[in-house]
Amino acid sequence: MTRRIAILAAWVSIAGLPAGSWAQTPPPEPVRAASPGKVLEVAVRVDPDGRPEYSIRRHQSLIVDWSRLGFIFADAPKFERNFTVGEASTRVFDDTWEQPWGERRYVRDHGTEMRVTLNERSGRKLDVVFRVFDDGVGFRYEFPDQASLREVNIVDELTEFAIAEPATAWWIPGGEWNRDEYLYHQTPLTEVSMVHTPITMKLASGVHVAIHEAAVVDFATVWLRRVDGQRLKTLLWPSSTGPRVSRKAPFATPWRTLKIAKDAPGIYMSDLILNLNEPNKLGDVSWVKPFKYVGIWWGMHLGQNTWNSGPKHGATTAETRRYIDFAAANGFRGVLVEGWNKGWDGDWFAKGEEFSFTEPYADFDLPALAAYARKKGVRLIGHHETGGNLANYERQLGPALDLYRKLGVDAVKTGYVADAGGLQVLGSDGRIHFEWHDGQAASRHHLLVVTEAAKRKISIDAHEPIKDTGLRRTYPNWVSREAARGMEYNAWGNPVNPPDHEVNLVFTRMLGGPMDYTPGVLSLTGAGGRRIPSTIARQLALYVVLYSPIQMAADLPENYAKFPRPFRFIKDVPTDWSDTRVLNGEVGDYVTFARKDRAGDDWYLGAITDEQPRNLRVSLGFLDEGKQYTATIYRDGPGAGFAGDPKSVVIESRPVSRNDYLTLELAPGGGQAIRIAAPGGKKAAKPRKPPETPQPGKEEFDVE
Ligand code: NOJ
Ligand code: CA
Repeated sequence: MTRRIAILAAWVSIAGLPAGSWAQTPPPEPVRAASPGKVLEVAVRVDPDGRPEYSIRRHQSLIVDWSRLGFIFADAPKFERNFTVGEASTRVFDDTWEQPWGERRYVRDHGTEMRVTLNERSGRKLDVVFRVFDDGVGFRYEFPDQASLREVNIVDELTEFAIAEPATAWWIPGGEWNRDEYLYHQTPLTEVSMVHTPITMKLASGVHVAIHEAAVVDFATVWLRRVDGQRLKTLLWPSSTGPRVSRKAPFATPWRTLKIAKDAPGIYMSDLILNLNEPNKLGDVSWVKPFKYVGIWWGMHLGQNTWNSGPKHGATTAETRRYIDFAAANGFRGVLVEGWNKGWDGDWFAKGEEFSFTEPYADFDLPALAAYARKKGVRLIGHHETGGNLANYERQLGPALDLYRKLGVDAVKTGYVADAGGLQVLGSDGRIHFEWHDGQAASRHHLLVVTEAAKRKISIDAHEPIKDTGLRRTYPNWVSREAARGMEYNAWGNPVNPPDHEVNLVFTRMLGGPMDYTPGVLSLTGAGGRRIPSTIARQLALYVVLYSPIQMAADLPENYAKFPRPFRFIKDVPTDWSDTRVLNGEVGDYVTFARKDRAGDDWYLGAITDEQPRNLRVSLGFLDEGKQYTATIYRDGPGAGFAGDPKSVVIESRPVSRNDYLTLELAPGGGQAIRIAAPGGKKAAKPRKPPETPQPGKEEFDVE
């Protein structure tokens, strides 16, 4: 025996295995499961030390090399080695379900499930369940009820993702103070340190992989830490109370997910995350409405108004009536009013104990405004900014939601403004603990709010929330959230969102689910006259590109009055779709979407680019056979660009059919939006005032 082997043999023997067994025993044959179309294959085995591990191949090529599975506990021996693979069973499932609202009406859930029981030498068991689709893989751990591990206190999860080909990654940092509100980095995967998910990678072969998670219920979400090379390891978001997750067995963890496709459009098109969530638990959800909204909001971010009381208070009765009138005149269902309630006058950031969710400021007549809105066919959208003080909010949650229910307010925007680790949670010991926005305490809180809201037929749009893991399928009143760097940074600067940001969002953040980005700032001006690096046509395209069933028209009404013709698109565009296609796209560079109105036969097309100008040729082959449609095109005009003339826009219409191709000319930082109206199809939402008469044919203008 050489010296090296002697040392290793001794070490293995200390670890509990017979000396020498590591070297001679080949790993047992893996158990395998392939996706229905034989595109992806998962293999599971234990290594010579009994460490469970899995790998993934796509068309026989290794995508994820052997990667570990397991856990470390606070008060029990870890689940890490000394396992054998016990029973492994597979089944094929094929189901199609209907979304109450979404990017497409019907979703097919077709895959192969493999359940693998891992038996530890000590007698403990752990099941790992894989679902293998043609466009990705999800797996989760199921902790059975066993006497030796009933109270499960997890301090670390050992799941790894060892990416097998050299890869480029798009990512935001994990564990930083500003949570998930960062600009994206594009680097070799070997330069990643700790990242948030979704993280998206393009492998040397061109295959795209996006790692995320699905169905995070009563659990911490994860960051990924690069261990070495291209090996990423999960790290659960921390908790200040000790273990990162505490649960009683039996329970299942969230799904660890990999969307895997041949290109960037393919990873967006995958419904893997929704499919891994439980079906709707709320029953009839016809009361959940997709809609567009305006609000007393952008003025605060510009510094023209304040949330707090005083001479610049935004949420006054008179100002709210003006917004209600504007919404009614232009076909918007919702009017968000921030700063309506007591608690904004002190330093509320990360404190929040002053917030009352039932008492309006004296200059805001809540019942009268709610009634006025309803009379005009409009709804107020409620606002609950908590300053991250979950304890204060949970104390008032019932009465706060009851009040809105009574007034007919059926959607509430919540907010958790506090740095990472700054959520204040009431512990079982009666004391306040500081917790993380994506930890187990936050996961419990958000579902409490969503289910309490559902009891009152209220929908929730959470800002500074936990990340989106597809729970909208189970709780369809969780309509949208922020969970990324939104439009507000274009008001504040430091820095503004550069042109590639929204393209990056499509292939990273948006893989989790809808985002309340708040597009439509046609004035293209932030606080203090700061320039927003975009174009008018791009602001319109964002309604098609960045999916959300609730979409804000974020600019001031007086600014929309300056741009009546582009504003027409914002009035027309729906927020609920029966079909979605990604026609082209490269992560961080450009993307084109076509989406079909769920309420009719019209299609809408949106394309955006980064700082590069581009000509994108797209086929209209998705249109119905034999129909002549009318395309109203909103495109970047002469000299347009994020650094050029941002307001140069051309609006023109032309007949189109499925045999046509369009060349979309996008200016640097620009975009294009097209309404493709079906013959005799649904007409646009009717404004209460007579609609503007569009000029026939081509029209070019440049408004300042
Ligand atoms: C941050 C949110 O993202 C923003 O939309 C809101 O206006 C402020 N918090 C205040 O609640
Ligand atoms: Ca925010």
